[in-house]
Amino acid sequence: MSFNPLRERGIPLDKQTRNWAELNVAPYDKHDVHPFSRCRGIVMNGIETEAVMFSHQMSRNTLDPEVKKQLANVRRVEAQQQKAVNWLIPGDETTLEVTIGYEQVAVDLTAWVAQNEPDPYLRQVYEFGLLEDFDHLYRYANLYSLLQGKEADWIVGRLTEIMPGRPTIFEHRYPADEIRRPMTSLAADPQSVLNALTVMSAEQQTMNYYMNIGNRFTEPLARATYLEIGQIEEQHVTQYESILDPTVSWLENLVFHEYNECWLYYSFMQTEPDRRVKALYELHLHMEIEHLRIACELMRQVEKRDPEAILPKSIDRVMTFQENKAWVRQILADQVDLIAKNAQFINIVELPPRDPYYAYQSQVNENGCPTEQIIDDIIATKGDEYRLETEGEHPVPGLRRAEHREGHSTEYSRCLGQPAGFAQTATGAAMPQNPGRLT
Ligand SMILES: [Fe+2]
Ligand SMILES: [Fe+2]
Ligand SMILES: [Fe+2]
Ligand SMILES: [Fe+2]
Repeated sequence: MSFNPLRERGIPLDKQTRNWAELNVAPYDKHDVHPFSRCRGIVMNGIETEAVMFSHQMSRNTLDPEVKKQLANVRRVEAQQQKAVNWLIPGDETTLEVTIGYEQVAVDLTAWVAQNEPDPYLRQVYEFGLLEDFDHLYRYANLYSLLQGKEADWIVGRLTEIMPGRPTIFEHRYPADEIRRPMTSLAADPQSVLNALTVMSAEQQTMNYYMNIGNRFTEPLARATYLEIGQIEEQHVTQYESILDPTVSWLENLVFHEYNECWLYYSFMQTEPDRRVKALYELHLHMEIEHLRIACELMRQVEKRDPEAILPKSIDRVMTFQENKAWVRQILADQVDLIAKNAQFINIVELPPRDPYYAYQSQVNENGCPTEQIIDDIIATKGDEYRLETEGEHPVPGLRRAEHREGHSTEYSRCLGQPAGFAQTATGAAMPQNPGRLT
């Protein structure tokens, strides 16, 4: 399987505009949609949103009126593509149901990327971030059970397990510790650039989504959870944007953005079972082929450089949503106690006692932590938390259900000083005693 978007003919730009009815696509049926179809739509919405926002930022930093005009022409189409893709989500899919889809994306997209990342350092970056979104999935699924009385099995289709990851309470780190080592585009495998652009865009969309819809709830605990996890998505965007090469020109960056869109639509066409959605992806691919041609042409004209020198010769590896249960379990077992420090990942026990991490932790968690309270509340009201452990008990003894932990805890909960002055919470997290209710 090999595909080269540079050798294909796309749809001329003036034929890409669609009318309102064409854009107002019929949404999928939330009970029929394949969970990974939902995931693909969420990814492409994030990619198109990045296409629009990147083009705006580039336009604000561009003097050349001809480049600005071309950006405006293509951007209008990107904005239409974003609508067509995002309008596949039906109005009766609740905000929490959509959210659970977003976190399933963060798990299984990042899992694929990590396993297909040629650079070992970047692979580590993805594995590190993945365990945090994996925990968000568990927190939101419990919030969903608490607020809507339903179990999230049907949303994830039992394709992704739901259980604690690196507990969200511990993910709140000192801001500068999210900065990683950037890759060098010239030296990097082009796949590394595509991987980073894709995960960055997905995380950015998650950040945007939570920052905007988190206040659409009346329940104080839901509002609190979205703002807390929204802050982690801010950390994730900081992490993923920092691995990209900051020295590439705006035009080179544009070329890579368009190539990335081609790669993903081509990838998702291969596996999308819904024929109507597959046709939409195919249509968008043919639009992207022309966007890519235009971006390459601009690079040749303005920078007198050959874009083919920086792009892959062909697409031979497609991004695929698939089960990653065993792999995720292994990452959990090996890496749950890692923390980020100076662009490296170390075990929490190696962090010096006066590290700013602890000050930041006590600032944000001082009066309790919403994502811990969800678990406390669900145990208090239903007698048990919600988990979807299809492959057996949790691989980390300290993160098993309370009655199975038998005194085990994570390195985090040990380092944060429990039991003196701390209570061990439902997931083994340590937090100040008597934090008080957040309501
Ligand atoms: Fe696009
Ligand atoms: Fe997340
Ligand atoms: Fe995330
Ligand atoms: Fe595009």
